[in-house]
Amino acid sequence: MANHAPSRNLAMELVRVTEAAALSAARYMGQNNKPAADEAAVDGMRLVLNTIEMAGTIVIGEGVKDRAPMLYNGEKLGTGEPPEVDIAVDPIDGTRPLAEGRLNSIATVAIAPRGSMYDPGPFVYMNKIAVGPAAKGVINVEKSVEENLKAIAKATGKRIQDLAVILLDRPRHDQLKAEVRQAGARIRMIDDGDVAAALMTAQEGSSVDVLMGIGGTPEGVLAACALRAMGGEIQGKLYARNPEELARGMAMGYDFEKVLTMDDLVSSEDVFFAATGITDGELLDGVKYFHKGARTHSLVVRGVTGTVRQVIATHSLDKLEKISPLDY
Ligand code: FBP
Repeated sequence: MANHAPSRNLAMELVRVTEAAALSAARYMGQNNKPAADEAAVDGMRLVLNTIEMAGTIVIGEGVKDRAPMLYNGEKLGTGEPPEVDIAVDPIDGTRPLAEGRLNSIATVAIAPRGSMYDPGPFVYMNKIAVGPAAKGVINVEKSVEENLKAIAKATGKRIQDLAVILLDRPRHDQLKAEVRQAGARIRMIDDGDVAAALMTAQEGSSVDVLMGIGGTPEGVLAACALRAMGGEIQGKLYARNPEELARGMAMGYDFEKVLTMDDLVSSEDVFFAATGITDGELLDGVKYFHKGARTHSLVVRGVTGTVRQVIATHSLDKLEKISPLDY
């Protein structure tokens, strides 16, 4: 029997980060103003991240310094004391659905020991496959759709026709869609938000079994951090949109043929992840307002222990507005 005393769970502090982002961004639901929503979420995240006792470096951020005034790759956050950590943020995964007043927009953040997160550089797309704990260890992003679905069916004890594959609704997935149909599985299309989609595969009682297709690389790293803790698996391969991007990547030393395993995406088990719903979704409820207050719904995950918490918080906006520089 090991004899470790419980240690600090940084994810409990991270949930305040995603709550602040969600509360700030939710005001922009349906306002058709992506930049303002993004700025609000970034401001909320940054303010709270800086209060956490850590020496953090953003590895997955809003982009390179000049184009992203805050939460840029390489930015230092936290109080500066140990532990030294990598930080991945997606202040709004689902900016478009939020701006248009649609479902499935969340705020997410992950932390892992310094040097343990994959740095995708400027390469924004990745071909992914993600599953929950029941199918961990049987997927292979290099195998055909049919082979993967057969393996997932066997591992989960389901028939292929019982399986549901979740896909981003993009023309680039037409062929993939046809292959899933051909294999006999069912399809769930989403407009945006493949971090939430990847996590749904690991939720108990979830109606989806596997995420497939090309989505954001940052989102892939964030999903890997969460799935590592939730017992699922994600694999990916960088995806170049055109020969120029491929050539540029290769010149920078990126290997587009390499299978990025969970260990490549985040090499430590000591990972913390939090997400808060901004608009309603299947994974998380969105921010709900009531008289002088608001309610948030979050997921808080810790890799070392595998603990997954759902946190419902009620916030007194009245009080917050008196003490916070944020505009709730
Ligand atoms: P953002 O809201 O952060 O821009 O991402 C939304 C999203 O749907 C991601 O969840 C997904 O990984 C990515 O966009 C897919 O990219 P694209 O919209 O270019 O197909």
